[in-house]
Amino acid sequence: MVRAAIAAALLLPFPLVVAMAQSQPPPAAPPSGYVGSNACKTCHADVWLNFYKNPHFKSVASGSEPPERTGCEGCHGPGQAHIAAGGGRATIGRAFSLLSPKQALEACLTCHDSNFDKANIQRSEHTQHDVACTSCHSIHHAATPQRLLAKKQNELCYSCHSGIRGQFEMPSKHRVNEGFMQCSDCHNPHGSFAATWGMGQRSHMVEQALDNQSPCLKCHVDKRGPFVYEHPSVRVEGCQICHNPHGSMNAKLLKRPVVFTICLECHNAGGSGTRNLGVDLQSARHNLLDPKFQKCTTCHVRIHGSNADQYFLR
Ligand code: HEC
Ligand code: HEC
Ligand code: HEC
Ligand code: HEC
Ligand code: HEC
Ligand code: HEC
Ligand code: HEC
Ligand code: HEC
Ligand code: HEC
Ligand code: HEC
Repeated sequence: MVRAAIAAALLLPFPLVVAMAQSQPPPAAPPSGYVGSNACKTCHADVWLNFYKNPHFKSVASGSEPPERTGCEGCHGPGQAHIAAGGGRATIGRAFSLLSPKQALEACLTCHDSNFDKANIQRSEHTQHDVACTSCHSIHHAATPQRLLAKKQNELCYSCHSGIRGQFEMPSKHRVNEGFMQCSDCHNPHGSFAATWGMGQRSHMVEQALDNQSPCLKCHVDKRGPFVYEHPSVRVEGCQICHNPHGSMNAKLLKRPVVFTICLECHNAGGSGTRNLGVDLQSARHNLLDPKFQKCTTCHVRIHGSNADQYFLR
């Protein structure tokens, strides 16, 4: 906790802070009961022999004193009593098979609470539904050496969100199932800040790009702006007011098959839409009886914003 607080205060990368902390003498005598990772080798050879590949090995390799919070015991707690008893699940501080999701989360957060991307971990949809670190990460049997994931994305996410897979099979889609993108390009499974778009809506753990903007703008940079003439809906309601982010039956991931029906949700002269931004649909300029007016974007080509024309005509 203290170390994490220091890291947060100094905004230093976590490993550096660990190194700094390790280079200083301990403030008080270390709590007894820690024996170091080598003591685990004889009985847990399978786990021990692979451990050198684990990012958590680093804190072991430094050979630091005091040994608490390093190596095996950094997660499992002091091992002395456990060894004296000849093993057993109840004799070690943290046998994860006995921990509740909440306890497992707290164990990992003793070190990882200073990672910025986990700032919202406590209020994330996952944490609130008892999906803890160990539901997604496997320390000793990881499928990916990087990130220590229990399964590769996107299978990891589909193992619980099977309904989402079909959305990425639709005619218009982001190529997630083909492996060109992954869920974490748009989502932060550790929880996210409240979105600045789509006021009042749940964040759906959607990751942010720069300046708390929609994650879509990380890749679709031409939609970022700022534009001289903004189309307010892009920024205020967000991309998903017109697009389905995962996939759609309609071209360009659009929510509706015919473009004008999207536009008329807001630009409805009758005032039955959410706002009265009415277009006079019987006038010479916009006569919806004439099919050419049904695809509004044939004329309003810069629908995401324009630097040249207030009506987004160019
Ligand atoms: C980063 C935290 C962490 C570190 C470090 C760690 N473990 Fe574990 N260990 C876990 C978790 C979490 C589990 C629960 C199973 C899982 O998720 O893989 C576990 C499970 C185990 C098990 C149960 C059997 C198994 O294979 O799952 C043993 C035994 C074990 N650890 C021993 C060790 C030893 C020995 C070391 C040092 C070489 C060590 N652990 C280092 C987190 C850790
Ligand atoms: C004398 C042999 C022995 C030594 C040394 C030993 N263990 Fe164990 N350990 C066992 C046995 C036996 C079990 C019980 C396995 C079971 O019940 O499935 C066990 C269980 C565990 C578990 C519980 C896994 C679970 O089910 O969640 C953890 C964690 C663990 N050991 C970590 C360690 C660590 C860390 C060290 C080194 C500090 C260590 N052990 C040293 C014999 C040993
Ligand atoms: C004793 C402190 C400590 C504890 C406890 C701890 N970690 Fe770590 N963890 C680290 C350090 C240090 C690294 C290496 C950081 C780096 O390389 O940037 C790391 C790395 C990781 C990584 C890999 C990061 C990457 O970029 O590939 C994952 C995933 C991870 N930890 C998950 C966990 C989980 C899950 C738990 C709880 C079961 C846990 N950690 C408990 C200190 C800890
Ligand atoms: C719902 C699944 C899920 C849960 C729950 C989860 N993670 Fe992750 N975590 C991931 C995925 C997926 C990645 C890889 C993201 C990427 O590749 O960009 C990741 C990346 C990481 C990383 C490396 C990137 C970084 O932030 O430095 C660490 C460390 C980490 N997780 C630790 C944790 C800890 C600690 C917990 C619990 C407090 C946790 N995770 C809970 C899925 C999860
Ligand atoms: C162990 C099961 C499990 C895994 C693995 C898992 N999730 Fe979840 N996820 C849940 C549960 C449970 C909820 C909360 C209930 C719900 O909304 O379905 C949830 C909620 C979510 C939400 C918010 C849904 C909403 O309506 O706001 C998103 C987004 C999400 N998960 C994405 C992911 C991603 C991305 C991954 C992979 C990195 C992942 N999940 C892995 C179980 C899981
Ligand atoms: C292109 C960006 C993007 C990718 C890639 C992506 N998502 Fe989403 N996802 C979003 C956005 C944006 C929302 C919020 C939609 C809204 O607010 O209407 C969302 C919503 C969700 C929800 C909650 C709503 C629902 O439909 O149930 C879940 C669950 C979810 N995503 C899971 C996943 C999983 C699992 C993956 C990977 C297989 C994934 N997402 C990949 C952008 C993405
Ligand atoms: C990781 C990069 C990335 C992110 C993040 C991303 N996209 Fe895309 N998007 C792409 C790529 C690449 C394509 C090209 C289509 C393909 O992959 O076949 C694309 C295509 C599209 C298309 C056009 C589809 C077509 O049929 O021409 C739309 C619309 C779109 N994305 C909207 C969004 C929205 C909305 C978001 C945020 C929820 C988003 N994108 C996030 C990379 C991204
Ligand atoms: C007001 C509705 C609306 C909003 C909001 C919106 N779009 Fe679009 N977008 C459209 C329409 C309509 C098209 C199809 C244009 C066409 O038919 O040529 C489109 C096309 C696209 C395309 C494919 C063609 C191209 O211009 O590259 C991408 C990519 C795209 N949008 C991304 C985004 C992103 C990213 C956001 C959020 C920053 C967003 N859109 C917000 C209506 C919208
Ligand atoms: C979510 C609501 C919403 C949707 C959907 C939407 N718009 Fe808009 N649009 C607005 C708002 C709000 C303004 C700003 C009106 C103002 O400043 O008076 C605006 C402004 C415009 C303007 C400029 C009007 C002016 O007087 O400067 C045009 C042109 C326009 N929209 C066309 C479209 C088209 C075409 C579509 C469908 C592709 C569309 N809009 C979809 C909300 C929406
Ligand atoms: C044939 C080209 C064309 C098509 C198709 C078209 N517009 Fe327009 N639109 C224009 C022109 C030109 C202007 C205004 C130019 C001016 O007043 O200087 C305009 C202005 C607007 C304005 C702002 C002024 C006003 O009348 O309120 C909105 C909003 C708008 N259009 C929405 C739409 C919607 C919604 C659709 C689809 C139903 C659509 N347009 C289809 C050419 C078109």
